[in-house]
Amino acid sequence: AIERTLSIIKPDAVAKNVIGQIVARFEGAGLKIAAAKLVQLSRQEAETFYGVHKERGFFKDLVDFMVSGPVFVQVLEGEGAIAKNRDLMGATDPKKAEKGTIRADFADSIDANAVHGSDAAETAAQEIAFFFPGLNVYSR
Ligand code: CMP
Repeated sequence: AIERTLSIIKPDAVAKNVIGQIVARFEGAGLKIAAAKLVQLSRQEAETFYGVHKERGFFKDLVDFMVSGPVFVQVLEGEGAIAKNRDLMGATDPKKAEKGTIRADFADSIDANAVHGSDAAETAAQEIAFFFPGLNVYSR
């Protein structure tokens, strides 16, 4: 089925100036950009977005990192977009990510891991609505 998923290119990858290289991987795999923006998250926005992790030991480091610089947020659309994006990203911990994945190639650590992608249809819908409320997402 045609799906939408939320992708965040995190502050580490934005700082490395590899937004375009990462977007090229999405496009090369047949995903289309249905919405996109560069945004500096506030602490409150980062805490809300990652609210599901608030009891985890890594939560503060995660929020600190996500507000450390601008992020590039996109809605990706295409056949099986959620799983396709996760395959392209590779494992959360770049040390465990398969060769040729975005995290293997661009990430430095489990915190500075270059990208976020929605993990399921329900979270994708929530995450897209969080960053792109209203009708600001374009099928094409
Ligand atoms: P992300 O897919 O953005 O979702 C939550 C983030 O928390 C994850 O990527 C990692 O960057 C970060 N994180 C740090 N430590 C852990 C951990 N032990 N397990 C999962 N995620 C972690």
